[in-house]
Amino acid sequence: MKASLVSACAVPPPGSSPAALEAALQTRLQEMARTKAAVEQELLQCRAQLDRAFAVTEQIAGLRDPDDIEEALLGHYGAMLHAGGVYLDRAGCTRRVGLSPGAMPPVDLVPADVRAALARHIESVRIGRKTIVVPAAPELGGAHVLLGAFARPGAEAGVVVVLRGRGAPAFETSDVLASESMLLYGAQILNNALTMCHLQRAAVETVYALVNAIDAKDNYTSDHSERVGLLARLTGQALGLPKERLQALEWAGLLHDVGKIGIPEKILNKPGRLTESEFAQMKNHPRIGHDMLSPVARFAPVLEAVLCHHENHDGSGYPEGLAGQQIPLDARIIHVADIFDALTTRRPYRNGYDRLHALRLLERDAGRVTDPHVTRIFIDALWESARGGANVPGAAAGGPPAVPPAS
Ligand SMILES: [Fe+2]
Repeated sequence: MKASLVSACAVPPPGSSPAALEAALQTRLQEMARTKAAVEQELLQCRAQLDRAFAVTEQIAGLRDPDDIEEALLGHYGAMLHAGGVYLDRAGCTRRVGLSPGAMPPVDLVPADVRAALARHIESVRIGRKTIVVPAAPELGGAHVLLGAFARPGAEAGVVVVLRGRGAPAFETSDVLASESMLLYGAQILNNALTMCHLQRAAVETVYALVNAIDAKDNYTSDHSERVGLLARLTGQALGLPKERLQALEWAGLLHDVGKIGIPEKILNKPGRLTESEFAQMKNHPRIGHDMLSPVARFAPVLEAVLCHHENHDGSGYPEGLAGQQIPLDARIIHVADIFDALTTRRPYRNGYDRLHALRLLERDAGRVTDPHVTRIFIDALWESARGGANVPGAAAGGPPAVPPAS
């Protein structure tokens, strides 16, 4: 081992004394120890940056709104660079970014002051897209400054200003590299998020196109689907369901009767009661709706509710005759909202019931037709919305629903 070390370092001149050889070896060993420590330090920094990148990815995985994603990205970016303050300058406006835990003691400067002090550098970075480091800027009380270009698709080029307070370590080359990587990564994530937004908008437009198609065919459903969607969302909120589930519930409400597109208009708009054969055809609409939507992956979260929104709590419903907890929760919610809206809507063979009557009928049939717990939550949520003045179908006009809450 010693021989290989000696051969790897500068070999003393021939005839050197054993003491000179020993000294050369010691020098080489010290150099190697310093190199090892520096490599270890660099590895630790890389590890910390990787951890930060994972933390960012984990946090933004649940976000959909590009503004929320940008805020989370820049917050973690500041923490990764041990910043005391991060500012984003875009479209002539400078704002302070909230930092994630792990940041240095705050550098609390007014955004307009930061912009005024660094205007020349900000424009230089915006135009040249190069990172700039300004050590101990006197116009900012000796704070260390790093400025990086941050592109957001569809928006004017932004510049991120990172500050470390006076006395904190100055920015080094490794900070510049980390900043550039993170800002590039962030721009790619934002681009993906915006693409998702466009897809989401296209999906929403598809939903409304389908709802319009039902409305055009069935006189009764005009606005019915929209009201059921809103009532279902309201009930989901009262049940404490997560945001994504609420969106699915609203879509399920909008689309629950989409299968009526496959039912003859003479049945849909028949002024009198349906014959047994006509009712048998009508009972196909949940299955038709389910089969229409199932090829589109985006509609997967609403399929069960569409298929099961006419299943009754006691098993007497259709198409499967499911009972109780066998019926998916979203379908039980849609079922209650659908019945309430149907009861309060004018039909060819009767006027719409007032809300008091409709809620009493809902309560009467809870446990037989609808899930009793969901029905109670629905009534309480309608009551609460009316008290809060919310614009909820069946709750806004004429004061609160007359059936009082359970508690
Ligand atoms: Fe239906």
